[in-house]
Amino acid sequence: MHIYTYMISTINSEIIPEKWYNVIPDLPEPLPPPRDSKNDFSSIELLNKILPKEILKQEFTFRRYEKIPDEIREQYEQIGRPTPLIRAKNLEKALGYKGKIFYKYEGATSTGSHKINTAIAQAYYAAEEGVNGVTTETGAGQWGSATALAASIYKLPAQIFMVRISFKQKPLRKTVMNLYRGNVVPSPSNLTEYGRKILEEKPDHPGTLGIGISEAIEYALDHDYRYMVASVMNSAMTHQSVIGLETKKQLELLGEHADVLIGCVGGGSNFGGFTFPFLPDHPDTEIFATTADEVPKFSKGSYKYDLMDSAGVLPEMRMYSLGADFVPPTIYAGGLRYHGASPSLSLLINSGRIKSDEVNQNEVKEALKTFANTQGIIAAPESGHAIATTLKYAKQHKDENKTLVVNVSGHGLLDLSIFGDNL
Ligand SMILES: Cc1ncc(COP(=O)(O)O)c(C=O)c1O
Repeated sequence: MHIYTYMISTINSEIIPEKWYNVIPDLPEPLPPPRDSKNDFSSIELLNKILPKEILKQEFTFRRYEKIPDEIREQYEQIGRPTPLIRAKNLEKALGYKGKIFYKYEGATSTGSHKINTAIAQAYYAAEEGVNGVTTETGAGQWGSATALAASIYKLPAQIFMVRISFKQKPLRKTVMNLYRGNVVPSPSNLTEYGRKILEEKPDHPGTLGIGISEAIEYALDHDYRYMVASVMNSAMTHQSVIGLETKKQLELLGEHADVLIGCVGGGSNFGGFTFPFLPDHPDTEIFATTADEVPKFSKGSYKYDLMDSAGVLPEMRMYSLGADFVPPTIYAGGLRYHGASPSLSLLINSGRIKSDEVNQNEVKEALKTFANTQGIIAAPESGHAIATTLKYAKQHKDENKTLVVNVSGHGLLDLSIFGDNL
């Protein structure tokens, strides 16, 4: 091996963790279990049929650490892990902030967001079982892109149901998924009975994530495919812990300590993956979960058992929720429109260990602009929410010497239309 390649892979393999971290045993109270959402069939049994067995095991395990198979660690390196942790000195200067600001950049992965961290693992376990393929829903397309690439790596066909309105608004995302050999259809589609029924009633139905989930599950059952879980569920949260474990290691190598951690929340996977590994040994670190003020799940939602998907196919979970029938406004950040949040994160918010923040669309746009013109990174609109909280915190604590670390969950190079023509 060339000495340079050897050095790079040695450095990488020291930073990419060997085990994923599962927060369940470290929660301040036992996690309320999922429960069946309907009387006439068991949605918990359904999970047995649509998830790879290893994913199902990880869903319900109480083990704190799970070994990352060597094959997955190798793929993590292929898709750009470890992702960089960068000190945002230009931003600090622009804000006149006395402390330090670091950002973990998940936009540096090959698909441009954190979603690939769990997609790789789920596709690997599905391929090991020798199934026919994988299927999922996608909104704005980040999750669909990650699913398509992961499936392509493990030579599995991927059937992706993309919310029809996003399919129309974001044609470039379809191109990305096709390049990764994914099959993409606008949902509702005529590939499933559920989709055909909706199209019969309303041929121009714009689609929802709930409909996409139901179509993907029906497709998985009919074709011996496995369903890929984007977020919310524990296995996806656990796989995303590579973000936080790498960040801890990188801070340690720099001799730094995180005083404040900030991330954005859709279903909670990038946030949980980034922050949960700090919980056991960083009791004094302040942690902020940012949502859009138009999807105020933590301040206006209630902590209760609720449906994960609007069709009620998946089990109910105890979580902060605005109600599965909540119709979110069309905010820039498609990935933050989900009505609920992961049960483990919800429990930690309810216990007071993690605080929440809400930012509005103007703050997000301004934060994205400031981040672009200081650090040069065009962040995803979802990540813009976390950056907005970071700017707010730095301005309010200007003269304090704290180290802030923000997770920038993806790049926004396919979302530039949000800026319009008036920059
Ligand atoms: C770039 C990016 N960040 C954040 C999210 C929110 O999802 P999660 O809360 O599961 O990380 C999404 C979801 O689509 C996303 O694409």
